[in-house]
Amino acid sequence: MKLASLLSALALGIASFAVQAADPIVIKFSHVVAPDTPKGRAADHFKKLAEERTKGRVKVEVFPNSQLYKDREEMEALQLGAVQMLAPSLAKFGPLGVRSFELFDLPYIFPNKESLYRVMDGDIGKKLFTLLEAKGITGLAFWDNGFKQMSANKPLHTLEDFKGLKMRIQSSKVLEAQMKALGANPQVMAFSEVYSALQQGVVDGTENPMSNLYTQKMHEVQKHLTLSDHGYLGYAVIVNKGFWDGLPADVRDILNKAMADTTVFERKIAQEENDEALAKVKASGYTAIYTLPYKDRVVWQQAMLPVHKEFEEKIGRDFIQAAYNIAAQVEKEKAAQPAAPASKDKPGPAKAKPAAKPEKK
Ligand code: SIN
Repeated sequence: MKLASLLSALALGIASFAVQAADPIVIKFSHVVAPDTPKGRAADHFKKLAEERTKGRVKVEVFPNSQLYKDREEMEALQLGAVQMLAPSLAKFGPLGVRSFELFDLPYIFPNKESLYRVMDGDIGKKLFTLLEAKGITGLAFWDNGFKQMSANKPLHTLEDFKGLKMRIQSSKVLEAQMKALGANPQVMAFSEVYSALQQGVVDGTENPMSNLYTQKMHEVQKHLTLSDHGYLGYAVIVNKGFWDGLPADVRDILNKAMADTTVFERKIAQEENDEALAKVKASGYTAIYTLPYKDRVVWQQAMLPVHKEFEEKIGRDFIQAAYNIAAQVEKEKAAQPAAPASKDKPGPAKAKPAAKPEKK
């Protein structure tokens, strides 16, 4: 009898150990955009790859649309370990004290996606991630969204049109300076609050890639949109460093590979999502869409370029110069290729030349 109860206690113990051992590692992945955006779809893709490839040892819980936290709160939650993974816009790292990320907010700094990817995937991207370590954060990948467009309830064609407009921006000092350079009045606001702020007239306009504008229904409360490609919005996928370092090495390896594959997927769908969103906004009939002609694009660019100089110290002159060099190199390589047929209505964001080269000191 004694032996029987000992054996059954042992069996129970083994069973409960087995349940414990089978408890998956949970990654809470919080983000602020809709599931049908480049970031939203990529978060779901990562969940799928991570869960399949770890055979259930890892469970990824994705919380879209600021369900758990708004912009600023989610950074704090990550540092405290309340969530393990985020993909904030690159414009949201300033308040963390890592101002160099604002490089990506400089107006017209990237003439094309090739230059952008080389910056993200090269030394600059690596150095930026190193800067996060001291904040208890590890950077895993850079994800794409797209170039930003301007919207308001009045046409935005000339600089004069921006005068006095209250424009919602993300929490970036560069974006603040950019809007001021245009004559507008910048208002920092969490992404989740933008739709109602536009609807109620708390702000007059905003800037975002088409996928964000469309999925948040901002076009329903913005009568005018200017395709200006004046700046860029992308993401850094980040994790709580303590959590990440504490993972079993084999699990971390699998997750790193899943993240690399997700990044390839994400960059492939980003442009498609933005093109589709533009088509849907056009079809909706809510918003008049104006493509900024090249001659006016140059005028906008001239107005905003002093912002590069203004932020040299905060961002780091080396980072800015390296981004200019990459853009110039990409242009050189493009120029050496056989000419593609010219597109009249959509010139690249900054028509090549990194026009804002800082003066030599
Ligand atoms: C995001 O794409 O994560 C949000 C961007 C914004 O706050 O405008």
